[in-house]
Amino acid sequence: MSIHDFEIVTTSAGAVSIRNKVVNEIMHNPVGPWQEANDLYVRQSRLKDRLAAVSPENPDKPLVLFDVGLGAASNALAAIHCALGVYQTRDPGNSIAPQARPLHIVSFENNLSLLEFALQNASAFPHMTGFETAMRSLLKDLNWKSPCGMITWELRPGDFRQVIQQDAGTVAPNLIFFDPYSPSVNREMWTLDCFQDLFRITAGTTEPVSLFTYSVATPVRTAFLLAGFYVGFGQPTGLKLETTEVSTCLESLANPLDARWWERWQRSHKQMPYDAENFVHQDLVNRMTAHPQFRLN
Ligand SMILES: C[S@@+](CC[C@H](N)C(=O)[O-])C[C@H]1O[C@@H](n2cnc3c(N)ncnc32)[C@H](O)[C@@H]1O
Repeated sequence: MSIHDFEIVTTSAGAVSIRNKVVNEIMHNPVGPWQEANDLYVRQSRLKDRLAAVSPENPDKPLVLFDVGLGAASNALAAIHCALGVYQTRDPGNSIAPQARPLHIVSFENNLSLLEFALQNASAFPHMTGFETAMRSLLKDLNWKSPCGMITWELRPGDFRQVIQQDAGTVAPNLIFFDPYSPSVNREMWTLDCFQDLFRITAGTTEPVSLFTYSVATPVRTAFLLAGFYVGFGQPTGLKLETTEVSTCLESLANPLDARWWERWQRSHKQMPYDAENFVHQDLVNRMTAHPQFRLN
């Protein structure tokens, strides 16, 4: 894929966005990149509160955010805008915030042409104003540090599924914004195989790990559950009636999948993960039945 495979479009809701002409998908359709990044990822994850929740034993410990599918960097930039707001509110004088956690964003991307295209068209996206240097430095040096020193932004290029296997044990996320293309064109990113690797990485942190994504597909939710996560109904955002919240801890879900969902799952004909053929069917059924989220049902 190259920068010529993208174009600036206006969505049906009147937002300026980017269309990938090869897979024919519009980014953050229809509300546009900025609203979706903020509604679905930044606000729903309560990023602001998480940054303000400093551990007294380890106040300098950064909050690690995995930005899966960096793309045009809307989600990462929304997180950066949010964090700068937190740091400035806490110490407006010099923009340093002793009472807030630093933010360490780790962005994953296997094709940087979308970021290059976004940079070339930065004037179409007000949220990029002032961050062109950050985006350039991410592309060139694979990292950027904010002038206040509180935000580090790192890029891990390559296929997410391979990169996290190489990285296992070295960095564990607290929060994950999971935003690949949709399962119909980017199936491999929504598989049990991929989520199992992701779950293994979460073992590296003692804090609960939360993930937010736009897909509500049953095979996706089933794959998260089978990988060992707990899964909840995510908030409606934009024109989406529902999204998905995933966590390593049942108590941190705002609205866990419930007995009604479990009943529907048992009757569903499209319940299994997209890569179910790589597993023994009965074993997957047994694992779902034994899942602690539904054991009481
Ligand atoms: C919907 S776009 C992401 C939009 C982006 N989050 C934003 O805020 O602008 C999906 C992105 O995921 C990337 N992607 C897809 N499969 C991937 C993989 N296996 N590893 C890393 N990145 C991947 C695509 O190249 C694309 O840039």
